Amino acid sequence: MPIESKPFTVLVTGGAGYIGSHAVLSLRDAGWPVAVIDNLTTGFSWAIPDDVALIEGDVSDMALVGRTLAEHNIGAVMHFAGSIVVPESVVDPLKYYRNNTAASRALIEAVVQAGVKHFIFSSTAATYGIPEEVPLRETAPTRPINPYGMSKLMTEYMLRDVVAAHPLNFCALRYFNVAGADPQGRSGQSTAGATHLIKIAVEAATGKRGHVGVFGTDYDTPDGTGVRDYIHVSDLADAHVHALEYLIANPAESLIMNCGYGQGYSVLEVLDAVDRVTNMTIERRIEPRRAGDPDLLVADNSKILATLPWRPKRNDLPQIIGDALAWERILAERQR
Ligand code: UFG
Repeated sequence: MPIESKPFTVLVTGGAGYIGSHAVLSLRDAGWPVAVIDNLTTGFSWAIPDDVALIEGDVSDMALVGRTLAEHNIGAVMHFAGSIVVPESVVDPLKYYRNNTAASRALIEAVVQAGVKHFIFSSTAATYGIPEEVPLRETAPTRPINPYGMSKLMTEYMLRDVVAAHPLNFCALRYFNVAGADPQGRSGQSTAGATHLIKIAVEAATGKRGHVGVFGTDYDTPDGTGVRDYIHVSDLADAHVHALEYLIANPAESLIMNCGYGQGYSVLEVLDAVDRVTNMTIERRIEPRRAGDPDLLVADNSKILATLPWRPKRNDLPQIIGDALAWERILAERQR
């Protein structure tokens, strides 16, 4: 759709980061004008297309955000900026309550003051904690077991209360395990010090690390290793564009939805799939469990499928791995 037909510009916070940069691409591919605010602590300016304005700064800077909302004709905000490393949140909880909860509070206040009508929030399956039942429905109890999950849940609560008091609606998407990279090679996961399984496995496959640790083989799962619901980052990004269109069409509604495929793979299944895609054998080393890892995390995605016209296009583990691998090779070239 041509840009001229869109009523406003979408502000993407954290648009230079992994998931945010894919949301920028999905929005641009759907014809939305986009502006990005990012402090570039973990993001990269090269991840942003040339026709997207980059405002360098912090979402907690209300004056900067206020100016940006006014100057760029912003009608909706997609909020990705924040800190995302679960173990770090345990040793430095105040960083998470500052960068996630307090920064979101400031951003939401600026949004309300400017009269912006729609807010899409990057939430997480970590809001559930250890599930009682799998697949997880949105109605499951939210009992985060780390400050990361709690910092995100607190933002969901703020949004719930704010939309009851102001002319704003929101959608919080609770992501399961996000992986892969833009199939056209325009962006991917680039931040150093990866902790996520598929990123680590493709780093091993490209020689950036020697082996992959398998964190525990005594979980209550068919092969004893942790089971997760891996979703392709571009499908996740597309879900945000559909959520935006839903919020515009239904201004009195707000919603919280899981974002996953509803299908789980174990650590060993993922590593076997990486071997098949790369035609290599990655070295696995059995290591102790990582603190706080649940056995099984799989989304019940019936709500998002019933609510949005979103349909996963890349629900295929080898494709997720192949796209992550292709991006890893692009990164390796870039860094040479
Ligand atoms: N794992 C390994 N070896 C590794 C890395 C991971 O065996 O080197 C295992 C983990 O123990 C887990 C699975 O692979 O069983 C997936 O681990 P990730 O680190 O890739 O992802 P998590 O499931 O821990 O984290 C995800 C999101 C977080 C979110 C969390 C909710 O990335 O943002 O789910 O529990 F908070």
